[in-house]
Amino acid sequence: MQVSLRHIHKRFGAVHANNDINITFEGGRIVGILGENGAGKSTLMKILSGFQPVDSGEIWIDNRPVAYSGPQAAIRNGIGMLQQDPLDIPAFTVLENFIYGGSDGFFLPRKTAVRQLKQISQRFGFELDPDMPIAQLSIGQRQQMEIVRLLTLGVKMLILDEPTTGISAEQKQTLFDALRQLTTSDGLSVLLVSHKLEDVIALCNEVAVLRAGRVVGTRHMPATNAQLVALMFGQELAPQTRKHFDLSAAPDALVLEHLYLHGHRVNVDDLNLRIKAGEIIGLAGLDGSGQEMMLRACVGLHKSVRGRIRLKGDDLTGQSYRNFLAKGVAFGAAGRLEEGLVSGLTLTEHIALANEDGAIIDWSAARKHCENQIKLYDVRGRPDSMIETLSGGNQQRVLMALMPASPVLLALEQPTRGLDVDSARWIWQQLMERRDRGAAIIFSSPDLDELVAYSERILVFYAGRTFEIPDANRTTIDEIGRLIGGTFEVLPA
Ligand SMILES: Nc1ncnc2c1ncn2[C@@H]1O[C@H](COP(=O)(O)OP(=O)(O)OP(=O)(O)O)[C@@H](O)[C@H]1O
Ligand SMILES: [Mg+2]
Repeated sequence: MQVSLRHIHKRFGAVHANNDINITFEGGRIVGILGENGAGKSTLMKILSGFQPVDSGEIWIDNRPVAYSGPQAAIRNGIGMLQQDPLDIPAFTVLENFIYGGSDGFFLPRKTAVRQLKQISQRFGFELDPDMPIAQLSIGQRQQMEIVRLLTLGVKMLILDEPTTGISAEQKQTLFDALRQLTTSDGLSVLLVSHKLEDVIALCNEVAVLRAGRVVGTRHMPATNAQLVALMFGQELAPQTRKHFDLSAAPDALVLEHLYLHGHRVNVDDLNLRIKAGEIIGLAGLDGSGQEMMLRACVGLHKSVRGRIRLKGDDLTGQSYRNFLAKGVAFGAAGRLEEGLVSGLTLTEHIALANEDGAIIDWSAARKHCENQIKLYDVRGRPDSMIETLSGGNQQRVLMALMPASPVLLALEQPTRGLDVDSARWIWQQLMERRDRGAAIIFSSPDLDELVAYSERILVFYAGRTFEIPDANRTTIDEIGRLIGGTFEVLPA
């Protein structure tokens, strides 16, 4: 199936999110859609898949103009998309979702559904149990379920918006293998929006780059990382270097003693850690290995069953998040809209709430402060923009703007998730400035390069067990990869 976009325009108020987009996608290819945060990628994908109406312009399929409104209609035209942020999760099992998820009240007979579900799952090595409640699926499994659903509905173009954020390395491999098969054997067309250039390099046949709402370049693969960055930003970025930071005389910022954490999936037993002011500790591990729980324990969001937590010498064991905040910790959650930001509130409201005690808010001062923060953090948005209308990367910038300027401890879950290369560097600059003022930083990341580039020490979690890499300068990505998979034995002492 060939899909052509002609003169696509989409505005949101003053923002021209898609500004005369012209591009053609052929069947049987995987096309990477690249571009900086706010470039208009998600907007374009939502237009193609019917989640957003177009202002003007046309979509042509196999040389015929089509007009559709709504995602079901797009699916009938052969185009289906996996959402960037998971939608509300209904109280269905995998099978029920599969049966009722068809278009326009068309129900699959139960037997057929089970057979198709099994067939497609087997073909691609998906681990889907028909009787499992959807709420219990990991992000990766939910994604697999969506793919199976769209394939059964006969979709010929599959759109994935940052599909590898939040899934395990193994699930990513399964996903990529499935996408390769679907394009080469079944002739599907795949559009992949991603900031992870190594994924794009591994998977795509060609790329299209968006900047400020326009297609500014396309090219066939292979291409190197540097060439893709140059295509996106018009220049090659200087390599990152880690500044040496003298920790010898630094006082302890956070001390964990014999901490025992009890979680849904894993328990972490007898965790001992000392983090100095100005020290950066990276947490590695597959989703759900205990690192998320530990980050939350460091800021009072997850109570330990046993053990003590001291912040700058004060024993805060068992105290509330609010008390931790008052002592100078800050927490950044990976699920931007689920935990850190509140949908329906404007930027000004977020900033006002972060800075006030909830008593009386001086709105004109808050708005002024918000304007300053928007400038300082280069947020593409206005004080009265609702947070959910910002692009993913700009939401991350807002989270950063809400962080205190000189905290004692920053606990951050995947701080650069969904950010383009340039924005990710920018975030680390902001973090490094806080570290230079003495903040200790503890962060988790699925990106091993990021862990090695910024951590002094790395703590690897595997099923609740931890292994410490005492000097991140002297490890390799391969070694961390092995540890993440639970191979502790092969390591030199
Ligand atoms: N519903 C909306 N209301 C108002 N503005 C919006 C809305 N959706 C997107 N925008 C704006 O349109 C522009 C493009 O956003 P889009 O989400 O398409 O970017 P993106 O390329 O996907 O970025 P990211 O890589 O950060 O996800 C941004 O400036 C964004 O703030
Ligand atoms: Mg996006």
